[in-house]
Amino acid sequence: MFENIDSTNSYLKNNSSDIERKICFAEIQTNGRGRKGRNWHSPFGENIYMSYAKSFKKDVSELNGLSLVVGIACLNAIKEIGIDLPIKLKWPNDGVYMGQKLMGNLVELQSESYFETLAIIGIGINVNMLFDSSNITQEWTSLQKITGKYIDRNVLCIALIHNLNYALEQFDKYGLKEFIQQWHQLDSLYNKKINLNEGEFSGIAKGINENGNLLLELESGEVRAFSSGEASIQK
Ligand code: BTN
Repeated sequence: MFENIDSTNSYLKNNSSDIERKICFAEIQTNGRGRKGRNWHSPFGENIYMSYAKSFKKDVSELNGLSLVVGIACLNAIKEIGIDLPIKLKWPNDGVYMGQKLMGNLVELQSESYFETLAIIGIGINVNMLFDSSNITQEWTSLQKITGKYIDRNVLCIALIHNLNYALEQFDKYGLKEFIQQWHQLDSLYNKKINLNEGEFSGIAKGINENGNLLLELESGEVRAFSSGEASIQK
């Protein structure tokens, strides 16, 4: 637990050799990192900034769906603390409420040796943030905004750790197939007309395949699988 750190993911990346599992929290991040080199707004004492390092006896290629599993575990944790609202997942790594971003995860994989991979799983959840002092570029919300209540971050942290422990164990044993059904129930994009990578591709989202790739039904009728990209629902 740190009061002030550049990034919990960067910390665990540099301090997790020879470990099976390590978890780090911070009250503020001075260089919080998001996907695609973006900054993650991390003001003091308002939100959760957490990283979880876990070593898998697997090749990097087998950890494809990990960020999807992490998203599911986070939503289960939020539900467990009594917040029962239609919070959904947006492929590949966002938690959203009514289209507004509530959380994101950043999974960084380090190949340690043949068939051993260290995963640094970073999770940012907007908990009690009510104002944005940094012009966040996407539409965002927070748990306090959507429930109208102050949320005890300690209680949520405990629920997160135990839901992540369980989900990562299941993923380690059985892979992504164990989670496809849950993803389907939480998928905010399913059957919606979406753009991928600012209109490079567009079509109807059809869920995910067994590797966690997004399935997109193109106008031609072809269903194509995408392993990465930025999806947005067409307005
Ligand atoms: C995204 O949606 O772009 C991913 C955001 C991930 C943010 C978290 S906050 C804790 C951890 N440390 C970081 O520097 N980033 C992740």
